[in-house]
Amino acid sequence: MIRPPLGIDLHDIDTPALLIDLDVMERNLQTMADFFKDKPAKLRPHVKTHKTPLIAHKQIALGAIGMTCAKAGEAEIMVWGGVKDVLIANQVVGREKIQRVVCLARHATVTVAVDDPVNVHELSQAAEATGAEVGVLVEVNVGMNRCGVEPAEPALHLAKEVLAAKGLKFRGLMGYEGHLVFKEKFAEREAACQRDIGRLIDTKGLLEQSGLLVEIVSSGGTGTAMITGMIPGITEIQAGSYVFMDGRYKSIEGVGERFDCALTLLTQVVSRPSPTLIVVDAGMKAITHEFGYPTVVGHEDMKVVSLSEEHGKIQLADPSVRIRSGDKLRLLPSHGDTTINIHDMYFGVRRGTLEQVWEIAARGKFV
Ligand SMILES: Cc1ncc(COP(=O)(O)O)c(C=O)c1O
Repeated sequence: MIRPPLGIDLHDIDTPALLIDLDVMERNLQTMADFFKDKPAKLRPHVKTHKTPLIAHKQIALGAIGMTCAKAGEAEIMVWGGVKDVLIANQVVGREKIQRVVCLARHATVTVAVDDPVNVHELSQAAEATGAEVGVLVEVNVGMNRCGVEPAEPALHLAKEVLAAKGLKFRGLMGYEGHLVFKEKFAEREAACQRDIGRLIDTKGLLEQSGLLVEIVSSGGTGTAMITGMIPGITEIQAGSYVFMDGRYKSIEGVGERFDCALTLLTQVVSRPSPTLIVVDAGMKAITHEFGYPTVVGHEDMKVVSLSEEHGKIQLADPSVRIRSGDKLRLLPSHGDTTINIHDMYFGVRRGTLEQVWEIAARGKFV
């Protein structure tokens, strides 16, 4: 990709281009950091959103205790980029990935989630053979019904297996309430978090009664960070999307008011086949739409009505509007994470001027 010169107007950047409004991103980072500054729970932001060590270091400088990753590949990029403490909030399964993770643990503090005794055994064997120590959280299903053992006795049973396994360090529990993060009404989300995260906290109590030291209890997304982060016993919050926000999160009560959308896709009109239709150069290979079509920033009278691979169709409510080929628009993605994952670069813009071009180093790192 050709890097444009810094200092140009954002409208002179070639398209499609993923823009960050740096002022907004910095405010979002500060808002979340300020919230956690005096709380017992600390932030361990999820990198699945920004996928960039440079932004991770900004979060750490603001008080984050390390980073949360979804995959071994993301963890490698963070550690190679100088992050010293990573949690892979996911199961690391299979000989090759396990080997990568235990080797990484020689260079940083690495913790993984487990929900299966065979996986514990395989991690233990690899860690012992490599001479590295891998931290382990037992993942508890708090109602999302994705991964995780059931709360209470099943979690205690697995925790004891981890404790007995050579090469592994039992560090605590994780329970991600992903089924609650998008609950629109704050009061409903709060009540549901108290109920479901309560199971995780009760499980912590059970483990402690059985003599286990539970150093970490990790949970939380952007929609629940300020709720789950206040529940006594929670030690770490894994929120990630707050850095940029996206169209879907912006509508969530208690979140949309605190954080603003920093990420947009610059696109340009390539055709106006009729007075009420324009076609832009951003299709589904530039912006994802599993959470709904993007919106056109600053133009409520324009509506994205379809995305094919390289084209986006935008319906114009007003046929007399002056817009033609070459004009540029910004689209707000409904889902930031998956859109970022298909781009190589961020174009960091401040007050309309290009200030930075950053590589999205962990984009595509799903292995
Ligand atoms: C394990 C885990 N933790 C935390 C999050 C939080 O992410 P977000 O900030 O997007 O709500 C996610 C989202 O997918 C997740 O899968």
